[in-house]
Amino acid sequence: MGVLRIGIAGLGTVGGGLLKLAYGQGPLASTVTVTGVSARTRGRTRDVDISSIPWFDDPVALAKSPDIDVFVELMGGSEGSAKAAVEAALSAGKHVATANKALLAEHGADLAALAAAHGAEIRYEAAVAGGIPVIKALREGLAANDISAVSGVLNGTCNYILTEMDVTGRSFGDVLADAQRLGYAEADPTLDVSGADAGHKLAILSAIAFGGAPNFKALRLEGIQAIEPIDLESAKFLGRRVKLLAKAARVGDSVIQSVRPTLLAQDHPIARVNGPLNAVVIDAEPVGRLSLVGRGAGAGPTASAVAGDLIDLSHEDSRPVFSGPGQANPLTAASGGLLANSKFYVRLRVPDRAGTIAKITDTLAKHLVSIESFLQKPPEDAARVPIVLTTQPMAEQDLLDALAELSRLDVLVEAPVLMPLED
Ligand SMILES: NC(=O)c1ccc[n+]([C@@H]2O[C@H](COP(=O)([O-])OP(=O)(O)OC[C@H]3O[C@@H](n4cnc5c(N)ncnc54)[C@H](OP(=O)(O)O)[C@@H]3O)[C@@H](O)[C@H]2O)c1
Repeated sequence: MGVLRIGIAGLGTVGGGLLKLAYGQGPLASTVTVTGVSARTRGRTRDVDISSIPWFDDPVALAKSPDIDVFVELMGGSEGSAKAAVEAALSAGKHVATANKALLAEHGADLAALAAAHGAEIRYEAAVAGGIPVIKALREGLAANDISAVSGVLNGTCNYILTEMDVTGRSFGDVLADAQRLGYAEADPTLDVSGADAGHKLAILSAIAFGGAPNFKALRLEGIQAIEPIDLESAKFLGRRVKLLAKAARVGDSVIQSVRPTLLAQDHPIARVNGPLNAVVIDAEPVGRLSLVGRGAGAGPTASAVAGDLIDLSHEDSRPVFSGPGQANPLTAASGGLLANSKFYVRLRVPDRAGTIAKITDTLAKHLVSIESFLQKPPEDAARVPIVLTTQPMAEQDLLDALAELSRLDVLVEAPVLMPLED
C-alpha cells in the first residue's frame, strides 16, 4: 500500500496528538495522509489547523467514506457513535485503529467477527497502557510463549491517587479532589476509581494471552475508594506497597481475571511504579518474567501507539484481531475470581469493649483462619479501634465466611477491608 488515507474521528487529547504526528516531521507524516476528520464541535480551536481537511459532522459517514483506507476512532465510549462508526468502517471493509478499551472489552468478540467477515483489521495498541507497546509484545514478540500470568498497574489515575495518599498521608477524597483540579482525574472519576477502566484493559490483555475474546463480564472488579491512609501505612510496616493490581492468571484450565487493591512485596517489579505511570509484568515460558513500565496516558504516549498501528497497517501486516499466544489452546474465563490460596491483609474497626479481641480470634480460628500478624492500633475514639491483620495462605471463601460471622456477632463498626498479598 502506498500512502495510507486515514479518517480521524475524535480530535481531543489523543486525536490532537495524532494530528501533530501526522503533520510533523516524523515517520507517520510520510506514511499517512488525513483525508477526513470528525468531532462534536466543528468551531473548536485545535492545535493543528484542520481547515483544509474534509470535515464530517457524522463519524459514521466518515467511517464509510470512499476516500479513507483506515478509520481511526478516538472518540471513546463503548456504545453510541464510536460503536456505530467502527461497525460501519468494518462493514465497508476498512481497517480500524482505536484507543477505545471500553468498546473492545465489551464488544470485542462481535467486532472481531465483523472484521473477519469483511477482511478488515482492528488495531488497538493505544487501548492498553497508552505508550507501552504491550499488545505488540504479547501478540508478536511472545507469540511462541506459554503465558501463566499477566499483571499490571493499568490505570494511572488510581496509581497517582494511591501514591499521593502514601506520600502525604491524606485521604482518598482529598487526593481525588486535587487530582481533578490538576486534570489527572475526570470530573466523573467512577470509571477509573471503580477499577472498570483497568478491567477493560485487562480483559483485552487476557484475550491475547489466554485465548478467546475479551470477557469483561467474568472479571472481578474492586476499586480503590475504600483504601485509607492507615492501609498504606500498615502495608509499609509489613514491607509492602498497595497497588490497584489488574491480574489475569491461568488456574488449571481456566483464567481468573481480577482488578483489586493488592499488597505487593517491596521487591515486586510493580511495587515501586509510582505516580501516573503504568506497568505490565508478564510471566511466560520460555521467556521468563518480563516487566514493561511507561506512560499509560497523555497525548504523546497514546498517539505514539496509534501511529505505530498505522505504520504497521501501511506494511499490509495482517492478523486476526485477538491473535496471540493464547489462541492455540484457549482457556475459559472463570467468573467470580475468589482466590483459592493466598495470604490476605484485613483491616477491621471494632468498638473499644472488653472481650472483642477474644471474639475476633475465636471466630477466625473457627473458620481455619491462621493469623500471621495482628496489630491493634490506638483507638481513634471510644467506638473505633482499628485492627490490622495478615493471614497465612488460605481460601478467600473461608476468610469471607469468618468476616460475615464477625459482622453478625456485632463486633465490627464498619465493613472490613480485605486485600490479597502478592510476592
Ligand atoms: N487521554 C488519554 O490519555 C487516553 C489514553 C489511552 C486511551 N484513551 C482513549 O482514547 C479515546 C479518546 O480519548 P481522549 O482522551 O482523546 O478524549 P477527549 O479528549 O475527550 O476527546 C474526545 C473527542 O471525540 C469527539 N467526540 C466525542 N463524541 C463524539 C461524537 N458523538 N461524534 C463526533 N465526535 C465526538 C470530541 O469532540 P469535540 O472535540 O468537538 O468535543 C473530541 O474531539 C478514548 O477511547 C479513551 O479511552 C485515551
